[in-house]
Amino acid sequence: MKKQNIEVRDSGLVIEAKDIVKTFYIGEPNELEILHGMSFNVPRGQFVSIVGQSGSGKSTLMNIIGALDRPTSGEYYLDGIDISQTKDKQLSEIRNNKIGFVFQTFNLVARTSALKNVELPLLYAGYSSSERRRRAKELLETVDMAERAGHMPNELSGGQKQRVAIARAMANDPSLILADEPTGALDSRTGRMVMDLFHKLHEEQGKTIVLITHNNELAAETDRIITISDGNIISDSDISSRDAAPPELFRPAPVPVNTEGIIDTSAKAPADGGTAQTQTAAQAAQAPQTPAEDAAPKAPVNEKGDE
Ligand SMILES: Nc1ncnc2c1ncn2[C@@H]1O[C@H](COP(=O)(O)OP(=O)(O)OP(=O)(O)O)[C@@H](O)[C@H]1O
Ligand SMILES: [Mg+2]
Repeated sequence: MKKQNIEVRDSGLVIEAKDIVKTFYIGEPNELEILHGMSFNVPRGQFVSIVGQSGSGKSTLMNIIGALDRPTSGEYYLDGIDISQTKDKQLSEIRNNKIGFVFQTFNLVARTSALKNVELPLLYAGYSSSERRRRAKELLETVDMAERAGHMPNELSGGQKQRVAIARAMANDPSLILADEPTGALDSRTGRMVMDLFHKLHEEQGKTIVLITHNNELAAETDRIITISDGNIISDSDISSRDAAPPELFRPAPVPVNTEGIIDTSAKAPADGGTAQTQTAAQAAQAPQTPAEDAAPKAPVNEKGDE
């Protein structure tokens, strides 16, 4: 595969977002501006939470931070890479290497063991099978799931699934762990365990983590709270001013858990692309890394192959 050089500027920042605007077109002549010009930076090693009411734009922002979508205008650098100048084809590689996604509904691949789920990003990154296996086992140990390595997702509890998902997110030693309501589908005790795991990764491995949550108490445990409302950042509090976010901004998370919280990708991606819109983030986070032309159906929206 011919690699293309990607220009990287090292600023010590994992996220540099400047005047991010996101507009959705909802049919002529209407357009809906959802993010109204957000600017913020996240330095390497910070554990940040993003909070805000339902509909305030958190997931829309996450899609941009996660390089799953581009801003309509504004600048976004992920670990020094100018995302707005990056081709779709390179974006999936960047996502696979730079970002570990964790979702509310886990998004493990069904009928695939915990171990193989964790191996997936390593496969896409081109590791040999023995190296994949070795590293995936090590990652499962980190999340205390080594004993369940051979289990299928439907044989795991919610908290166990999320631990596997976190191990998978860590597979390629990403620059950023991006978690959208990772405890939203879990009871408080299990959510606590997941949160403790994030703390461990942050403290012991210096991971940069962006946590999107409705949970005020969990947010208060992080280094910094960014509060968004109606597509704007309304407060950005560091450790010294934790009490900034008003409690009424937090609502219980909706829990749209489907069957077992698993997306079944064994049923091949539909050629008609019918479901592409609603599951963009989840699908792209586990399939974006789709490495080869061999198994994958044609990518729906790509420019012509240029490898
Ligand atoms: N593809 C789209 N087309 C049009 N509007 C959209 C689209 N995606 C999101 N929106 C709108 O953008 C707004 C923000 O949505 P978003 O999913 O980012 O909210 P959220 O803060 O993540 O909410 P929740 O806490 O419920 O997950 C909503 O009003 C939503 O209807
Ligand atoms: Mg959301």
